[in-house]
Amino acid sequence: MAMAVMRDEAAAAVFELSTGVHASAVVRAAVQLGLADAVNDEPVTLEELASAVGARQDTLGRFMRLLTVYGIFAEVAEERYEHTPTSRALRSDASDGPAGIIRLGGDWNWILWGLLAHSIKTGDSAFQAHYGQDIFAYFDQNRQAGEAFQHGLAVVARREDPMVADALAVSDGERVIELAGGKGNLLRAVLERHPGVTGTLVETEQALETVDPALREGPLAARFSAFTGDCQTTVPGGGDVYLIKQTLHMWNDETCLRVLGNIRRAAPPGARVVVVEQLLTGGPGERRARLMDVHMLLVAGGKERTEKEFAELFHRAGLSFGGVRGEAGDLRLIEAVTPEA
Ligand SMILES: C[S@@+](CC[C@H](N)C(=O)[O-])C[C@H]1O[C@@H](n2cnc3c(N)ncnc32)[C@H](O)[C@@H]1O
Repeated sequence: MAMAVMRDEAAAAVFELSTGVHASAVVRAAVQLGLADAVNDEPVTLEELASAVGARQDTLGRFMRLLTVYGIFAEVAEERYEHTPTSRALRSDASDGPAGIIRLGGDWNWILWGLLAHSIKTGDSAFQAHYGQDIFAYFDQNRQAGEAFQHGLAVVARREDPMVADALAVSDGERVIELAGGKGNLLRAVLERHPGVTGTLVETEQALETVDPALREGPLAARFSAFTGDCQTTVPGGGDVYLIKQTLHMWNDETCLRVLGNIRRAAPPGARVVVVEQLLTGGPGERRARLMDVHMLLVAGGKERTEKEFAELFHRAGLSFGGVRGEAGDLRLIEAVTPEA
């Protein structure tokens, strides 16, 4: 499209990049309207679809015409649509569940990216600047947004957490304390793999309300406990392994040092601290990590880190850095040990 109005190739390329927001908005609106869930195996008419999703027929017809340009639905006859592989992937019951991940970043995510220049200028979280509170306090007051966030994380966790649990070395008799573990999907995977291990999940009240039922009932329940609390203030003692996955990247160094310091004070000597994060490596394939780095700045003033930066954080928190001890897809298991008494 840009080439039609611009003769300079670089200008056309940068203009094309600037319109990426349109494609994102189109996909998001398709999910918000629930279009993919409203179409089954048979083609549907525009009238049926409009009635199923509660939209005006004329504007929905225009939107469907646009969606087909992106390969989302195919128009098989005039005003009759059927699924394509791409539209099927947007169904709520699709195996990889991108719809759940798209819903995770509700309206707030759209507002934050619009404030990117502000965060780059000031170094402040755009969320805090716009809403005047931190994202988890906001979720406390906006329960639906909080639930969509936890649901989206659990969709990602279905893919990631079995790999992390496979990569985590734990021994019989050990107690794993997971800080900020969401619905407990990772802790569940760890307990399932290690029948001699017990686990404690430290989370906000809201996250614990929707904790994975397999941890509360059934065979795992006897080895599971929950601790409602703020790990920036206090952390339970008595753990052999303190696990924290994809949460330190939400926080600035000061907050990370508070949490790591709480672990150092609460944990017995020689306890392991296992941080699971993606690392910035400077390698060619790290577009996702660099995007996430800026995303974390917007959402909570956080950042992605290099291995060296983690080593420094651990050192400043009074922990002995143990290096990268495992891999799980893009994630790395970065370890430290609490000092001997
Ligand atoms: C980015 S999510 C990561 C969740 C999970 N570890 C995962 O990898 O999917 C951050 C989590 O930290 C929790 N959280 C935020 N602040 C917390 C605090 N001060 N104490 C305990 N948990 C907290 C949130 O409820 C949320 O589940």
